[in-house]
Amino acid sequence: MRVLYIGDIFSTPGLRAAKAFLKRFGEDYDFVIANGENVAGGFGITRKHLHELLEAGVDVVTLGNHTWDAKDAFELLEETPRLIRPLNYPPGAPGLGYTTLEARTGERVTVVQVMGRIFLPALDCPFRALDALLTELPEASTVIVDLHAEATSEKRALGEFLAGRVAAALGTHTHVQTADELIKRGTAYLTDVGMTGVQDSAIGMRFDEVIYRFVTGLPKRYKPAEGPATVCAVALELAGGRAKSVARIQWAEPDGAA
Ligand SMILES: [Fe+2]
Repeated sequence: MRVLYIGDIFSTPGLRAAKAFLKRFGEDYDFVIANGENVAGGFGITRKHLHELLEAGVDVVTLGNHTWDAKDAFELLEETPRLIRPLNYPPGAPGLGYTTLEARTGERVTVVQVMGRIFLPALDCPFRALDALLTELPEASTVIVDLHAEATSEKRALGEFLAGRVAAALGTHTHVQTADELIKRGTAYLTDVGMTGVQDSAIGMRFDEVIYRFVTGLPKRYKPAEGPATVCAVALELAGGRAKSVARIQWAEPDGAA
């Protein structure tokens, strides 16, 4: 089974590039996952964005620390099993922290997201939340984990914690693709899949306002960067719930698309 994981889709340019990529290469994959927590101008996801992603061929959309930024998420998370938020929110949070759906091959795939606790909201322990879930899932499950975390050390430790227990553990949130992909005990790992959006930016936002805030310490509203976008993604080949290969993708949208 071939799985595509599309890294954090940022605002309009990211969505445009992701859709173009899927139109061109979507058929090559049996199951597609995308992080969509930045698609609404950097902050959350709306109903319209979710529908566009699902229509483009995405099977599951994951969120993260921006889950609640767009108010549609409260409803959407209750309506569809194709949108998930971090598993380690305290009990009672709307929606699902994991979902199990069928791939084009007929195999079932479980997608889980956890959020790290370093420089992010203090949620429940992601290690313990994953442990509890994995003991609950059937032994032969194909599980892909989205590690939405800021600190490399935390993602690396979660990756090791999951090695030999899941098909893949892929980092999101930091928006710059890392080059440390590996397969350990059948588990594919990458510290960050990278951002799908305008790479010539402060992780998706225009530099001007970001630099102003750093230099002056004063508030200023961020504005999403515009221009040509790149899809950052990972292609996985899975068999029997474990990874056979992991390959990073960086695909620049064609000239004139922006
Ligand atoms: Fe994030």
